[in-house]
Amino acid sequence: MFDYDKDSITKDEKNTLFLETLRGYFDNGLPVVTNLANMAAIVYEFFDGINWAGFYLYQDSKLILGPFQGKPACTEIEIGKGVCGVAAETMQSIIVPDTDRFEGHIVCDSASKAEIVIPIAKDGGLFGVLDIDSPNMNRFTEEDRLILQESVRLLIDILP
Ligand code: SME
Repeated sequence: MFDYDKDSITKDEKNTLFLETLRGYFDNGLPVVTNLANMAAIVYEFFDGINWAGFYLYQDSKLILGPFQGKPACTEIEIGKGVCGVAAETMQSIIVPDTDRFEGHIVCDSASKAEIVIPIAKDGGLFGVLDIDSPNMNRFTEEDRLILQESVRLLIDILP
């Protein structure tokens, strides 16, 4: 599955392969949790320098931890709280270059220093967020935001 040579592939080729891999694994005949679990694993595999990748899902008016890769994490986040809660409330993707400088950032792992959160909406309603953490400050770029937003669009297409 991931038998490409990470060192010889260009960033564009890697982004294309990332999206193709998601398309290959997504299956709208499978439970949502199955597709989310594989997406978390694929994000974790394709993005260098990250220490957590996964989902918080909107349920009972808050965000609840969903499928992820990395260390165990906070299980509940209120809408409007932390990077995830603000992304969910505003429906805007957020890149945090330095988590120590984001007021209200929720520390699940003190090793995480940068973060990107992409909100996920289906038919106008909040479904959840895709959250990725890095131990490296300034890790996430505008290019990452665009490719991750595209990956979320692919996910939305196969959600029931
Ligand atoms: N740092 C996040 C909480 C989730 S963990 O990073 C996995 C936040 O501030 O929303």
